[in-house]
Amino acid sequence: MPNLFSDSIIDEIRDKCNIAEVISQYIPLKQAGRNFKALCPFHEEKTPSFVVSPGKGIFHCFGCNIGGNVFNFIMKHERLEFPEVVRMLAQKANVRLPSRPAFGREQKDTPDLFRINDVACSWYQANLNKEKSRPALEYLKKRLFTAKAVLDFKLGFAPADNGLLNFMRLKGFQEGLLEKAGLILRREGGSYYDRFKQRLIFPIFDSRARVIGFGGRVLDNSLPKYMNSPETPVYKKGNHLYGLNFAKEEIKRQDFCIIVEGYIDLLTVYQSGIRNVAASLGTALTPQQIRLLRRYTRNVVMVFDADRAGELASLRSLDLLIEEEMGVKVVGLPGDEDPDSFLRKFGKKSFWEKVTQGLDLFDYKLNLLTRNYDLDTVEGKVGVASHMLPTIRRVQNAIRRSGYVKRLAQEFSKGEKSLGEEWILAELKKVKKDFEHYAKEGLAQANVVVNRPAEEMLLRILLEDETAVEEIERHLAPEDFQDLRIREAMRVAYRLHARGMSLSAAKLITYLEGEDAAHLISRLSSGACKFIDRSKSLNDCVGRIKEDNLKNRLNKLQREIKLAQSWGHTENLTKLVGKYNQLVKSRSRQG
Ligand code: CTP
Ligand code: MN
Repeated sequence: MPNLFSDSIIDEIRDKCNIAEVISQYIPLKQAGRNFKALCPFHEEKTPSFVVSPGKGIFHCFGCNIGGNVFNFIMKHERLEFPEVVRMLAQKANVRLPSRPAFGREQKDTPDLFRINDVACSWYQANLNKEKSRPALEYLKKRLFTAKAVLDFKLGFAPADNGLLNFMRLKGFQEGLLEKAGLILRREGGSYYDRFKQRLIFPIFDSRARVIGFGGRVLDNSLPKYMNSPETPVYKKGNHLYGLNFAKEEIKRQDFCIIVEGYIDLLTVYQSGIRNVAASLGTALTPQQIRLLRRYTRNVVMVFDADRAGELASLRSLDLLIEEEMGVKVVGLPGDEDPDSFLRKFGKKSFWEKVTQGLDLFDYKLNLLTRNYDLDTVEGKVGVASHMLPTIRRVQNAIRRSGYVKRLAQEFSKGEKSLGEEWILAELKKVKKDFEHYAKEGLAQANVVVNRPAEEMLLRILLEDETAVEEIERHLAPEDFQDLRIREAMRVAYRLHARGMSLSAAKLITYLEGEDAAHLISRLSSGACKFIDRSKSLNDCVGRIKEDNLKNRLNKLQREIKLAQSWGHTENLTKLVGKYNQLVKSRSRQG
């Protein structure tokens, strides 16, 4: 979790909040010895497998394997981000959060800006009923929007004069703030004028339905077709998804989100009764938008018009979704339809069919490429590979990744000269990995032996008795752990220990990046565990992990040797064989 707050404040809040007390405000807890039990709020169950341990400061569900500390519970239950939970619990625990000077200035104006947006939104809305807005109403009618949609989405109209500026002045709002809100602009001479003129107004909401900005569309064919609010302290481009505030419950229910491009597309899809939809507003999805979505689902269906769907560039931006472990499907609409025009022409049923028949990004991209490259030629294969490998490289799940490599190899063996997987793997390695993520499933890479029982046992020992950290660190570096959740936990444990901080399950969890590591820790420390001889267990585990790592190194060398042989790289080959023999020797010395 990225921390905006100091470690000590977070520790203080966590320690002052009794996790059982906090959770009992959401779900009924039953005492069971030193712990509490409940029906898990995160999955359907009839007998309680959800355990809260106030002593350890953690919860864990043995049914769905979700767990963590008090922060994780509220993040999950209320779907809030970490800083929001910290603020909430700080209040509960009576801990004063220091004000952050870096944000101080912006934060001071924020309430005003929300208020200004709100008042402006109402004013634009009220305009729609005035005589001079007739063209706007006509336009909405022409686009077939229902009165309900117009009201729900708070659509409005900005007239050709400086109506908003005049109104807001009368209301007593300062011009400086209105400018900051992006609603008015300043001429060289110093006078102000309205940003949006003679435009249909689409208020942009954040996921909590506050108005943060506006988009304005012309009523004819003049350019620019759309004008949007500039970045303001409350509106950052790419931080929001249009329509998410309306769609989030349905996205959760359907467990996927349809992504369209524009305001109009969103309105038309939503109005048709398909409500798990959000709009990116004409840009590629950003990491912030993906993070927003992930609160509700891990699956997206991108609906592109034919132009965009045929562009490799727009597909490339989807690699980011793969990297964030989202399931991505792509739908290309025929002709020059966009979701709005398609729905109008072919109806809701056809649109829904398109959406549910979307192709997996991998297949979609491969189809597109094989139509544009000749796979019978080497050049064609190189071309296809150069587009597919960066996508495959970003797949975190090793099993899925190797599945894709196989599929690509199959595709490449259709022509005369077939090409085996090893070549693809070799090229895959060269693709630059410009991100530092890890496989959530816990596998670092294909073909690696993971001694999970031994690794888990060591983590268990550490959670039982934090003094074991020194002994473990003496023998094993974080990289020696192949389960990446455990690797991260150990890295954090070593770091905290080096800073002289105490370790506990609840605390370790606070410093982890990945949720999956938190689930693992809460499971290991919730389960009963007694060691007859802790130090013997520890040494056994260390020994087994070392042995397996040696095996992994040998296997890797073997694969490299094979590759060097097939490439005919004699020089490299000698080096590798030398390394291999050396390792084998050191192993027999140890054994
Ligand atoms: N967009 C923008 N500025 C522009 C053009 C487009 O911000 N000058 C964004 C808008 O969010 C718009 C989206 O990109 O909704 C898609 O643009 P486009 O396909 O051109 O418009 P549509 O939404 O299809 O609008 P319409 O159907 O009215 O043409
Ligand atoms: Mn359109």
